[in-house]
Amino acid sequence: MSKKIVVITGSPRKDGNSFAMTDAFIKAAESKGHSVVRFDAAMMNLGGCHACETCFKTGKACSFDDDFNIIAPEILDADAVVLTMPVYWYSIPAQIKCVIDHIYSFCVAGKDIAGKKCGLIACCEENDVTVLDGVRIPVERSAALLKWDMFGEVLVPGVLNVGDIEKTDGCARAAALADKL
Ligand SMILES: Cc1cc2nc3c(=O)[nH]c(=O)nc-3n(C[C@H](O)[C@H](O)[C@H](O)COP(=O)(O)O)c2cc1C
Repeated sequence: MSKKIVVITGSPRKDGNSFAMTDAFIKAAESKGHSVVRFDAAMMNLGGCHACETCFKTGKACSFDDDFNIIAPEILDADAVVLTMPVYWYSIPAQIKCVIDHIYSFCVAGKDIAGKKCGLIACCEENDVTVLDGVRIPVERSAALLKWDMFGEVLVPGVLNVGDIEKTDGCARAAALADKL
């Protein structure tokens, strides 16, 4: 059955490794008849959560002038949310962390977002796959809290420069992730 997928990227490098995997996933998902809405967080006007807890009280998800207000309706409507990012300092890049933090707005406003699927595509420079724990563990725990089902993860260590992903099976694995939807 055709699913609605929201893809949110976290890298500022448009020709980088996680974008290449993102493109491979989207191409595969669309070829299977799924619809994809993509947001490139690094190219959007996103800030951190102000913890004002006035979410949705002013008619929009975030009371501040933040592009999460463009993303929020699409997440509410989605069957699956796929997060893609590099590792920055053993953690989630600030660019996409702003989006993840704003998901708090659904909790504050009591919106029912349980039951979605969640996927993760991530990469890092170091060859040690446990470096990716810095993004994998918070995403998995957040998904569990939200009652989202982790349907797949593509975690690729050992890629630093633009193009390095082509020396790995990362894009093939990202495309194969679409089979799990
Ligand atoms: C600010 C910054 C911090 C980084 N921190 C880490 C790190 O902690 N561990 C690591 O293995 N790679 C780190 N990297 C390398 C990136 O994860 C790696 O280059 C990745 O392939 C970039 O993905 P992209 O091309 O999609 O942006 C860092 C890169 C930048 C720019």
